[in-house]
Amino acid sequence: MRMTGDTRLFSPAAERNAASILHVLRTYLPPAGLVLEIASGSGQHAAYFAAALPALQFQPSDIEAQNRASIAAWTAEFGNVRPAIMLDASTPDWPLQRADAVLCINMSHISPWAATQGLIAGAARLLPPHGLLALYGPYRQAGKDLEPSNEVFDADLRRRHPAWGLRETGAVTDLAQKAGFGAPEIVSMPANNLMILYRAIGSPPA
Ligand SMILES: C[S@@+](CC[C@H](N)C(=O)[O-])C[C@H]1O[C@@H](n2cnc3c(N)ncnc32)[C@H](O)[C@@H]1O
Repeated sequence: MRMTGDTRLFSPAAERNAASILHVLRTYLPPAGLVLEIASGSGQHAAYFAAALPALQFQPSDIEAQNRASIAAWTAEFGNVRPAIMLDASTPDWPLQRADAVLCINMSHISPWAATQGLIAGAARLLPPHGLLALYGPYRQAGKDLEPSNEVFDADLRRRHPAWGLRETGAVTDLAQKAGFGAPEIVSMPANNLMILYRAIGSPPA
């Protein structure tokens, strides 16, 4: 993440991946309603998606105060972006009671597993039946070797923090299905990333 001349942070990755993520989201997001974004980072995605999807309301969030200031600066001009809220995905006390979709881009590999556990539990609490949980990032897939670039990235993450690293799609789906989501749709994205899309199906299976 780089600084700009004001409080806006700039993520080159967010600049690169925003259009391809939006392309997939257009198919899956509801036509109107509230989209909660977890771990919004710089706020570039919230600004980009809000400009492209004016009938949706966006609720950005992040655990870091510096990121929330950046989100405010990136999204100030948009009437369909709410002020960024402090939200630590790993805790159960989210300051929001409902959302029509939950979006999380590039958090799971760069946070402890508890953040992904909390993300899925929180999305299950907030979403109505058929509500969308959309995840984006680099993942491991059972039976497939990691691409060399993701292998290097994974090793670097683990060196930086032993609780970080690329997650298995199967482990994420196991959590999701136990929380009451259906089978995922998995979309291959540029640069060896995936989008994993779940729909809430109501109460967790008994
Ligand atoms: C690699 S950045 C991705 C930011 C943004 N989504 C993007 O794609 O540009 C990871 C983000 O996860 C956030 N994060 C890490 N742990 C978190 C947690 N437990 N709850 C919420 N956000 C968290 C960080 O503050 C950071 O904004």
